[in-house]
Amino acid sequence: MLSESFIQQLKQYSDIEHIVSGYVQLKKKGRYLSGLCPFHSEKSPSFFVYPQTQSFYCFGCGAGGDVITFIRQIENLEYMEAVRFLADRCGMTVPQDSEDDGRARLKKRVLEINRETARYFHDCLMSEQGKDAYAYLIRRGRDRKTIRHFGLGYAPDSWHGLVEHLRTKGFSEKEMIEANVAVQSQKGGAYDRFRNRVMFPIIDVRGNVIAFGGRALDDKGAKYLNSSDTIVFKKSKNLFALNFAKTSKLPGLILAEGYMDVIAIHQAGFDNAVATLGTSLTEEQARLISQYADKVVLAYDSDGPGQAATKRALNIFDEVGVKVTVLSMTGAKDPDEYIQKYGRERFAMLIDGSRNAIEFELSRLRNNHDVQTADGKVNFLKEACKLFAGIRNPVEREVYITQVANELEISPQAIKAQIQSLDKREQSRQRRQQKADTNIYIGRMAAAKNDVSRQVNLRYAMAEEGILYCLMKNPDFYQTVREKIAPEDFVTEVNRELYTAMVKRLESGQPIEMLDLSSELSPQAMGRVSAILATAPVQRCDLAELDDYIQRLSEHRNVKTEKEVAQMDDDALEAYVKQLAAKKNRRS
Ligand code: UTP
Ligand code: MN
Repeated sequence: MLSESFIQQLKQYSDIEHIVSGYVQLKKKGRYLSGLCPFHSEKSPSFFVYPQTQSFYCFGCGAGGDVITFIRQIENLEYMEAVRFLADRCGMTVPQDSEDDGRARLKKRVLEINRETARYFHDCLMSEQGKDAYAYLIRRGRDRKTIRHFGLGYAPDSWHGLVEHLRTKGFSEKEMIEANVAVQSQKGGAYDRFRNRVMFPIIDVRGNVIAFGGRALDDKGAKYLNSSDTIVFKKSKNLFALNFAKTSKLPGLILAEGYMDVIAIHQAGFDNAVATLGTSLTEEQARLISQYADKVVLAYDSDGPGQAATKRALNIFDEVGVKVTVLSMTGAKDPDEYIQKYGRERFAMLIDGSRNAIEFELSRLRNNHDVQTADGKVNFLKEACKLFAGIRNPVEREVYITQVANELEISPQAIKAQIQSLDKREQSRQRRQQKADTNIYIGRMAAAKNDVSRQVNLRYAMAEEGILYCLMKNPDFYQTVREKIAPEDFVTEVNRELYTAMVKRLESGQPIEMLDLSSELSPQAMGRVSAILATAPVQRCDLAELDDYIQRLSEHRNVKTEKEVAQMDDDALEAYVKQLAAKKNRRS
């Protein structure tokens, strides 16, 4: 365990406002700051930072806690890793800890395996046994410099080439399997996961080799095989070539579908291209991109699936506020083929002329509706108006309206009238939404969204939170609470966890700064602490109020399950019914 004074000092040096600002654009609003939540997607800010208590809370998704909890969640780290992360930032040394987690050590080993594996694959590619793979890459237009730059490799057509190599370097089979470069065999041994494939190392923004993609050279198995998620790799949170693209001098990023596309684009002089890793774009990747660029050129394949993926990506980027333009390629199925066929200059022109999302949608609409017929015209117009209603810039809107009016030979006024009525509807929808978003009354706290038990037992959960809040404010109320409530009386698990932690500290006479408990509480419980503090302005905490909370929570003890009721004898049943009736009267 780390000493409390160390954690205190760490937190002092890691000002929450400063740290969070590195990830979220915050606006100051009096005593707190707010911004768009990095943990869920939203359009109006419900994420709050409270410098006074050095805490954060999101009214949209219920995430909350202290600065350590924040780092844990945003960097996807364990508690000790987050502490180390923050200590590194502010130049503090974490005291040696005996229980220095195995997890951190394992991560380090897996990263070492990955690096050694990348080196091995690259050496294989450059040696005799890789000559076919090398020739394949050259035939596909990759040059020697590019191959070296990306550290491309070759996984030999062998079951134990890599496993044997790693063994001589002192790695165990268990570690190789953990790194997902080897697979457990039926007999218990390990064999190479990638065989006879061109290998693409995936490198994160810190320069660690975190995973691999491999393209088949024969028709055994899938065309591409990618690392599964491991202790150091989450597919959905990483992008291929972001390690290069992040330092590019070119504006924005180019997002392609495949490894080969990205490499071709880089070789053509655009070192700002990245790709997802064998999955379609995730929200997390879009947010990652938004940390490095405010605009993206989508260079997906020109086939059906590619276009469907484009449409999906447009929506996701819209959510995270990244501007998107779409590359429209004709005569080639993907950027790689386009560059091989037409050369880099024409590709550069394509990038320059890439269409924005509105144009992309418009041409899609044109394809879907036959504007020569009256019906087609009306439907096309309806869809186009919906599209235009979403354009906030009035000049841009005007341009498109005029264009479509000319195209369909109708008056721009007619289109504008249509849009206006859509605008009105949208505005009132937004007003309703905003009202809902800012409704911070504790009972409606969206934290409940992630916590079914809280939602089902809302009445009791609120009483529990009332008790917790009273105790935070007035620890001496504990005597009163202790006589009437035991931890088992808490109905919801998270609140019970908080109460138990609180009791432990109260019984041993320690201060109960709940926000300091991130080492012993789950992130979910830390979120609840923040929720309780964030909604404090609408809470009262005098003894009368406390009594009410206790009363309400005690009622739960008297709630019988159906089975219990079925087994009651007549007298007991009568008493129970009377008791329920009395309670009902009291409530109304
Ligand atoms: P494509 O099938 O478009 O391949 O898959 P490609 O990138 O054009 O590759 P070449 O030119 O045929 O060599 C695009 C991406 O989808 C993922 C890979 O990340 C690939 O780069 N993918 C594809 C897989 O993960 N598994 C597969 O079997 C196929
Ligand atoms: Mn291709």
